[in-house]
Formats: sequence, C-alpha cells, structure tokens
Amino acid sequence: MNKIDKAREILKKYNQNHIKNIDEKLADQILKIDFEQLQELYEQANSKTLESDIDNIEPVKAINPNKISKEEIENYIKIGEENVRAGKFAVAIMAGGQGTRLGHNGPKGTFTLTLNLEQKSLFQIIIEKLQTAQKQYNIKLPCYIMTSPENNDDTVKFFEKNNYFGYQKEYIKFFEQGEQPLLDKDGKVLIGEDGLIKLASDGNGGIFCSMAKNGIIDDMKKKSIEWVFIGSVDNLLVKYVDTLLLGIAISQNVKIATKTIIKNSPYEKVGVLCKRNGKVKVIEYTEIPKKMRFAVDECGEMIYGESHIMCNLFNIQAIEKASTKELQYHIAVKKSKYMNEDGEIIEPTEENCYKFEKFIFDSFCLFDKIAILRGKREEDFAPIKNESGPDSPETAKKMYEEYIKRNV
Ligand code: UD1
Repeated sequence: MNKIDKAREILKKYNQNHIKNIDEKLADQILKIDFEQLQELYEQANSKTLESDIDNIEPVKAINPNKISKEEIENYIKIGEENVRAGKFAVAIMAGGQGTRLGHNGPKGTFTLTLNLEQKSLFQIIIEKLQTAQKQYNIKLPCYIMTSPENNDDTVKFFEKNNYFGYQKEYIKFFEQGEQPLLDKDGKVLIGEDGLIKLASDGNGGIFCSMAKNGIIDDMKKKSIEWVFIGSVDNLLVKYVDTLLLGIAISQNVKIATKTIIKNSPYEKVGVLCKRNGKVKVIEYTEIPKKMRFAVDECGEMIYGESHIMCNLFNIQAIEKASTKELQYHIAVKKSKYMNEDGEIIEPTEENCYKFEKFIFDSFCLFDKIAILRGKREEDFAPIKNESGPDSPETAKKMYEEYIKRNV
C-alpha cells in the first residue's frame, strides 16, 4: 500500500474524514501522528473540567534562607561552587515559545529592551550571565537551548548573526521540542492555510523526551554533567548558575530542586506548589480551583502561596527518568485560524480548539522528595509576559535595574 492510501486508512479509522485531498507531504505528516493518543486526549478534554483535582492536598514547606544561619548558607554555596568548578553543571534554556502575548513577532528570546542605556535581547542577557559564571569559576559552561519547529531556524540565525554573543559556539546546542495537532471541539484535526494539519508546541514538559531524542542527554553524559538548571527565557532576574540551590540539592540528596517566591495576590499568573499524596505537585494558574486559590490561614496568609517561577534544577538521573515517562497532557482551549473543507480560511471569534501541553513540573512527582528553596521576588523574578501593565518589559526592566544598582 502506498503512503497516501495508508494515510487515508488512518484518517478513516480515527474519524478524520473531513480531510479529502491528501498529497505526499500531508501523508507524511499523518503517518507521524499518534491518532490513538489524540483520540484519548480528546475524550479527556470532553469529559473533564479543566480545573485540577485537589483532593488530598496539603501545603509545602520551603527552605527560607532568612531562617537558616549565615554559615549554613555559605556552606551550601561552597558545595554548589565546587560542583560548578568541577564542570558538573550545565544550563538549559526553554525557548520554544513565541512572543505572541508580548506583541513580538518572532522567538521570545529575540525580544529586545533597553537596559542601562544598552539594547539587549533576552538571549543576550542570559548568555552574558553565563559568560560571567565562566569567568568566575574558570570553566566552560555547556548551554542547551530548546526551540520549537516553528522558531528553531529564526533562533539559530539570530545567534549566528550576533556571533553567539561572544560565547563559544561549540558550547551552545539547540534542540527542538515536540508538537501535537490542534483538535476542534468535535475532535477533528485543524487544517492550516498550507493544507497541512495544524500543529502546536506540546508544552515545556516535552523537554525531557526532546533531550533524549536529540542526543542532548548523551552529550551531557559525555561531558560528565550531573546537574542541569532549566530556566525560562523570559525572566530577567533568573539566576542560571544558582550555587545555593545546587548546594542545597546536593546536601539534601535530592534529584530535583526548585526555587519559589510567594505569590503577590491570589490572581497572579503563576503555578503554586502543594503536596498531593505526599509528593510535590504544582497546580498551574490556569487550572487552580477557587477553593485553593483563596485559601488563607488564621493570619490571613495564602496557604498555597509558594509559587513556581521556572527556576528548576535537575540531576541528570532525574532528566533521564523523566525522559522515559509520558508526563500527563494538560488541555487548553484556544482560538486558532483554520481552513475549512471548502478551502476557506476561517478566523474564529471564539475559542474553537483544544491544545495539548505537558508541563515541566509534572516531573516533580517522579521522586518522593524534592528540595524547595524560597527566593525573593526582587532578586529572582522579573518576568516579561505582557506588552504593558504587570509582568511587562517596563516592570521587568525596573526590577532588573534596581537589582543591578543594589548589587554593584
Ligand atoms: C510558566 C509556568 C508557571 C510559572 C510561570 C512563571 C509552566 C507550564 N508554567 O507559565 O507555572 O508560574 O511560567 O513565569 O511551566 N516554553 C517552551 N515551550 C512551550 C511552552 C513554553 O519552551 O511549549 C517556554 C517559554 O519559551 C518560556 C517558558 O517556557 O521560556 C514559560 O512559558 P509560558 O508559556 O510563557 O509560561 P507561563 O504561562 O507564563
């Protein structure tokens, strides 16, 4: 049977008969898609509420650096630094996202802002931090950058055009994350303007499988890397070489450590940490039920305020383990342009499809214990999410410049 007939058979089996004209390119795409899994995801999307199940949850306890002695902190940092100096540490930047919410046309890491009178992209700001660490510890620091099929070429070109911001090119490796089709409310895959099935990034939790698939884990092992800090591209204050977090993870003998801050209001768009059946879990802001969002203790403090800020440290064993497990998919309802059966492009006015995403923090529950270190907003979290208002270039720049002023 030729591949077009094979593709037609698959479409028939999975009730996707809205697709009539199949050429070689579309057939190739169809043969690569796991329609069995998609069908299950659709059933879930249709039967479940998007809110997280919060039975059996309890608050987490974070290590608060204000409550431990200066000597203990120095000791953790020393342990972290020793491991960085020994070349056991690497970083991974999650840069699969586009700057859509920001109104930026292109990979989010290429978004530029003026800091202390100098124009810099988000990528440049991170790379300069890595350069500082290389000098400070006299090391070569491997940097892995996760892109998406949509933005990989633009990202690589951006680095080339900017001469890798002076970083050693051989220490930067790009790898692409995975994608999943968008499904309409009837479970049919959406077709794009190019006549192909519309795909969207499968979420930052796809990082572990993508690392395995693209030889990144092997590369890390070859370099004797033991710890990898995985951070986002859009937080101006993220410390990619966080020796305190590393020292704590090693001292506590855990395979994962995460840094948190306290949520500034029940409405802040951050995931919150809790324990479910004894294991650490993050409930994403898009899924948090009211009961949990507004829960306060007798002093009026948020019970679930400890927030995930995408500052996560993984032991190589944790990365390997997560890469062999299928993390759960979360469902988001989105608005997406598509081509109908008559070849017309439809611009929907309302949400018309399901998007399936894995979240990086769902790997936390692969271990009984992880370390949680409470950071400080003014030192650790200045995200750029929106064009204006909260979490915008303006607010992040202000926090960043104040941080620099305090630390010169
Ligand atoms: C994310 C976190 C949220 C946290 C918040 C802090 C997840 C699922 N959510 O939410 O818990 O409180 O940041 O700022 O982790 N990315 C990819 N591929 C994707 C999707 C995202 O690489 O498929 C990258 C983005 O480039 C960015 C980071 O992940 O570096 C955050 O992505 P974004 O979708 O903006 O996350 P938030 O919704 O803000």
